[in-house]
Amino acid sequence: MAAELTQNQIQLIEESFAAVAPQGAELVASFYDRLFNDFPAVKPMFANTTPAEQQKKLLSSLVLVVQNLRKPEVLGPALEQLGARHNEYGAVPTHYDAVGSTLLKTLAEYAGDVWGSELEEAWTAAYGAISKKMIDSAAVAANCS
Ligand code: HEM
Repeated sequence: MAAELTQNQIQLIEESFAAVAPQGAELVASFYDRLFNDFPAVKPMFANTTPAEQQKKLLSSLVLVVQNLRKPEVLGPALEQLGARHNEYGAVPTHYDAVGSTLLKTLAEYAGDVWGSELEEAWTAAYGAISKKMIDSAAVAANCS
């Protein structure tokens, strides 16, 4: 899946992620505040989890994705399974757009001076490829059932 990203983009993502990692917990909390504020319709989907649990899950999945950008053979199957589970949670493509734009805004806020058009393009490409993989596998799972 990382085939869609250039080596330079992968490097930019790794560096920016390392730069925001010390503020990871704050970043994730801010992501959810922004998501629920801008897209209140998705809030009930998270009723079965606590904010603390959900924040840990998002952070660990971000770490998994960033660590495996150079290993599509690891990332591909993991995202397929994640996409199928998200189909069960009721996530649809418009939700992925909401999560993507919220993630980008939150990253821009925490990356500060480091953020620029190159980084924005790199994260947009990465999120686009990740969400496409998850949405496509969810569609396959739905067709099979
Ligand atoms: C690239 C995009 C996304 C990633 C990497 C991601 C990652 C995760 C992870 C790792 C979990 C933990 C449970 C599991 O592994 O199945 C999770 C749960 C969940 N996600 Fe996502 N997610 C993404 C997009 C979305 C979107 C677009 C929605 C819809 C608004 C969503 C809604 C949920 C819900 C409702 C749960 C279950 C919470 C619970 O009841 O425990 N996610 N997500």
